[in-house]
Amino acid sequence: MVRHFLKDTDLTPAEQARVLDLAAEMKADRFGFAPLAGPQTAAVIFDKTSTRTRFSFHTGIAELGGNPLIVNPGEAQIGHKESVSDTAKVISRMVSTIIWRTFEHRGLEEMAQHSTVPVINALSDDYHPCQILADLLTIREHLGELAGKTMVYLGDAANNMANSYLLGGATAGMQVRIAGPSSYLPAPEVVAEAEARAQQTGGSILVTTDPAEALAGADVVITDTWVSMGQEDQKEARAQVFKPYTVDTAAMDQAAEHAIFLHCLPAYRGFEVTAEVIDGPASVVFDEAENRLHAQKALMAFLLAESGLAANYRAA
Ligand code: CP
Ligand code: NVA
Repeated sequence: MVRHFLKDTDLTPAEQARVLDLAAEMKADRFGFAPLAGPQTAAVIFDKTSTRTRFSFHTGIAELGGNPLIVNPGEAQIGHKESVSDTAKVISRMVSTIIWRTFEHRGLEEMAQHSTVPVINALSDDYHPCQILADLLTIREHLGELAGKTMVYLGDAANNMANSYLLGGATAGMQVRIAGPSSYLPAPEVVAEAEARAQQTGGSILVTTDPAEALAGADVVITDTWVSMGQEDQKEARAQVFKPYTVDTAAMDQAAEHAIFLHCLPAYRGFEVTAEVIDGPASVVFDEAENRLHAQKALMAFLLAESGLAANYRAA
């Protein structure tokens, strides 16, 4: 069976741990793994702009011995001149993996349904699961075991990052707390899926409008832009409604003394986070950005191996 990674719960708790272990091994031995040697091509298709996702996948595919095929927004027929299903049937006869950043999540589901190779979500309007793998790797590096740690996300609690923290954090057995304004909370079905996962792993889920309730004693404090890609016309209104959820020094003071700060980047200093916090001692955002590379290399190797499409992780 071909394995895809469209949202965080597509990996079981044990599989997520395996991918994170492999990512740590790959980070320690950066050129020691070559499951794409041959080289096999992996396509990375962008319907939205990107820095980290583009650089980390391109670099990671090359480091795994493969050939990255980067498709920039508007360059392919997909979406405007050709259906997702026909695109999937054509390109999965050629490439080893399809990595896609797009708007509507159901496009990814359609791609996966018609693809004979793994499909990886490189961000949709609903989820950004590759980012969460990198974040979990970063938290492990700084704070040790994930299970039982409290991970708090403040701000736009209805966006792709909030959804992925709920699902990915619950999968890791973490205490996930999400705080945002009442009209920007996660959809009930995402919360229900996270709660079901947390029940299996011993994790827990709290969704609240009260930032103080979320922050109390937190191990990890996280935020994201208040204006996700595609929402640029709502910038002014959003700046008002999210203001109480700014991560500033007063917010960090409510977390544990050892708390670390994460942000998937790009960040807007003076909006969702102050410069003092993101450029301060608790911030691990550049470790987090680097870890996109290692986490995604491990993810690609794992999905190919589980799909029966790559025999070996190790370089010859
Ligand atoms: N964090 C992240 O996905 O960054 P890019 O949008 O630059 O890829
Ligand atoms: N929520 C942001 C994440 C960017 C990496 C967006 O979708 O634009």
